[in-house]
Amino acid sequence: MSDNVALNAVRFARFCMDKATGYRHPSESDGNNPKLAEKSKMTESKWLVRMIFLESIAAVPGMVGGMLRHLHSLRRMKRDNGWVRTSRLFNRSTPTDSESQIETLLEEAFNERMHLLTFLKLYSPGLFMRTMILGAQGVFFNGFFVCYLISPRTCHRFVGYLEEEAVITYTRALADIDAGKLPLWKNLEAPDIAVAYWDMPEGHRKMKDLLLYVRADEAKHREVNHTLGNLDQKEDPNPFVSVFEDEAKPHPSKRLENAKPVGWTREEAL
Ligand SMILES: [Fe+2]
Ligand SMILES: [Fe+2]
Repeated sequence: MSDNVALNAVRFARFCMDKATGYRHPSESDGNNPKLAEKSKMTESKWLVRMIFLESIAAVPGMVGGMLRHLHSLRRMKRDNGWVRTSRLFNRSTPTDSESQIETLLEEAFNERMHLLTFLKLYSPGLFMRTMILGAQGVFFNGFFVCYLISPRTCHRFVGYLEEEAVITYTRALADIDAGKLPLWKNLEAPDIAVAYWDMPEGHRKMKDLLLYVRADEAKHREVNHTLGNLDQKEDPNPFVSVFEDEAKPHPSKRLENAKPVGWTREEAL
C-alpha cells in the first residue's frame, strides 16, 4: 500500500510539474491535430525550464533524509544504523559509522544541486519561475520532512519513482536531440562547471554528453532509493558503502556496474 501511495504522489507531482513547466508529451491519439502538435513541441528553453524545475525539487529529499538521520543519531546518541543488531545478524562490527546512509543521501543532494547549477549556466529563470520554485520548495521541503518522520521507507520509494520520471525526461530530451528537433543543442559545448564536475573527456563535452551523464546520475539515484526503500530502516546497513565478503557476486555499489533500475531486494543487498 505504501508503494502505491508513493507512486500516486509522484504522478500527482508530475501532473503539477507538467502544468508549471508547460510540458505536454505527444501521444498517438493526437493524430495530425496541428494545435496539439504545437502544444507538445519542446524547444531548448522549454526543456531547460523543465530541467531546472525538476532539479530544484530533486535536490531536496537527500538533504532532508540525511539531515533527519543525522539528527536522529544525535538525539538517540547512537549510530545511523542499529549496528549492535547488525553485527549480530551479519557478523559485522565496524569501528566507525561507515555503513550509515547519511553520506549517501547528502551526496545525492549535492549531485542534484550540481545538475541545477549546470543548467543555470544555460538558462536564467525569470521572476515568475523563481517565485514558483520558492513556493514549490516551501511546500515540498515541509511535506517531505513530515513524511520522512512518519515513513522513511515510503519516502525512499517516492524518490525512486521521482528519479524514474527524471530518467524519462532526460531520455526524451536526448531523443529530441537525436531527431534534430533541438538545433541549438546540436553543437553546444557543456558548461565548464559540468566539464570539471564530471571530468568529461575531450571530444565528449557536448550537450548530449552532458545529458547522458545527468541521466546516469538519475538512474543511480533511482536504484539507491528503491534499494533503501526495501531495507529495514532502523537496522540495516547502507549496502552502497558496505564491503561485501564475496566481491565477485553482483552487489550494490556506488559505481555504474551492476546497475539495477528496480533496486536491490533486502536479501540481495545484505
Ligand atoms: Fe538531477
Ligand atoms: Fe536524481
